Amino acid sequence: MKDIRNVAVIGGGTMGNGIVHVFAQNNFNVTLVETKKELANRAIETIERNLDRMVTKEKISVSDKEDALKRIQTSLKLDEAVSDADLVVEAVPEIFELKRKIFEEIDKSAPEHTILATNTSSISITKLAAVTGRPEKFIGMHFFNPVPVMKLVEIIRGLETDQNIAETIQKLSEKLGKVPVTANDSPGFVSNRVLMPMINEAIFCVYEGVATPEAVDDVMKLGMAHPMGPLRLADFIGLDVCLDILNVLYEGFKDPKYRPSPLLVKMVDAGKLGDKSGEGFFKYDK
Ligand code: CAA
Repeated sequence: MKDIRNVAVIGGGTMGNGIVHVFAQNNFNVTLVETKKELANRAIETIERNLDRMVTKEKISVSDKEDALKRIQTSLKLDEAVSDADLVVEAVPEIFELKRKIFEEIDKSAPEHTILATNTSSISITKLAAVTGRPEKFIGMHFFNPVPVMKLVEIIRGLETDQNIAETIQKLSEKLGKVPVTANDSPGFVSNRVLMPMINEAIFCVYEGVATPEAVDDVMKLGMAHPMGPLRLADFIGLDVCLDILNVLYEGFKDPKYRPSPLLVKMVDAGKLGDKSGEGFFKYDK
C-alpha cells in the first residue's frame, strides 16, 4: 500500500480546519478544499490563530508554526485537489445528499489507491461507502472538537471496509498524536450513542423544570468531573447538530429512548443554535 503523504480535506468549518491543522502540524501535505475563497481564507486564519495559541503555550516553536502553514494549500476545485491525494477526509455538513454528491465526485477524480474517509458524526459509513466504487477503501475517521486538543479518533469500519485500510488509518491516527479507537458501523457509533442521550436528558431536566441550565451543568462538572457541563457542551457542538444526531439515533434504532427533547427542537426552530448563533442554553459573544 502506498504511504500517505498527500491529504485532501473537504470543508474548512470547525472540524475541517482542525483536521487540516493536525495533519499539517504532523508533516503531511494538506489541501483544504472549500467552495468560496472567503471560506478558505477564514479557515486558514483560524488555523493560524490556533497554531499561535500553541506557540504562546510553548507547545510548538514559531518555525514549527510557519512550517505547518507552508504545508497547507487551499483549493476551490474538488476534482483537482483530490487528483494526487493518498487520503481524502470529508468534513462537510451532516447532510447525506451533500456528502453523496461530494463522494461521487471524489471517487471519479481520485487515484485508485486513494483512501476515502468521512468525519461524519452519525451517518452510516456503509451507506456512504456504497455511493463510491471502492467501499473496501472507505472508512469513518471521526475527530472531536477542538481537533488539535482532543486525543480521540473514532475509527468506524463500514460493512465492506478492508482490514488493511482500518489498520492503515489506525497507524495514521497515531502519527497525528491521537489515540484511535475502533467501532463497527451502527447509528451514532459509540461516541454519540453515549454522549447524545446524556445531553438530551440534561435538556429534559431543564424542560421539566427539574433544574436551571447552570445547575444541571454544575452537577456534571463538580460531581462527575466533566470539563464542560452537558448543556455548555451542547452549545459548543451546536444544538442543530445535536438534534440531527438524536434524529439519526431515533430513526436508526426506532427506539423512543432517543426521542429529542421538545425543548431542543424548539430552540433549533428559534435559531438558538449555541456558540455559533450567539445563544443556546447560555449566551456568547458572536
Ligand atoms: N486549538 C489549539 N489549542 C486549543 C484549542 C484549539 N482550537 N482550543 C483549546 N486549546 C488548548 C488551549 O490552548 C489550552 O492549552 P493548555 O492546556 O496548554 O493550557 C487547552 O486547550 C485548554 O483550553 P482553555 O484553557 O482555553 O480552556 P479549557 O480548559 O476550558 O478547555 C476545552 C477547553 C479543551 C474545550 C475543554 O473544555 C474540553 O475538553 N471540553 C469538552 C470538549 C468535548 O467534549 N469535545 C467533544 C465534543 S463532541 C464532538 O466533537 C464530536 C461529535 O460528533 C459531536
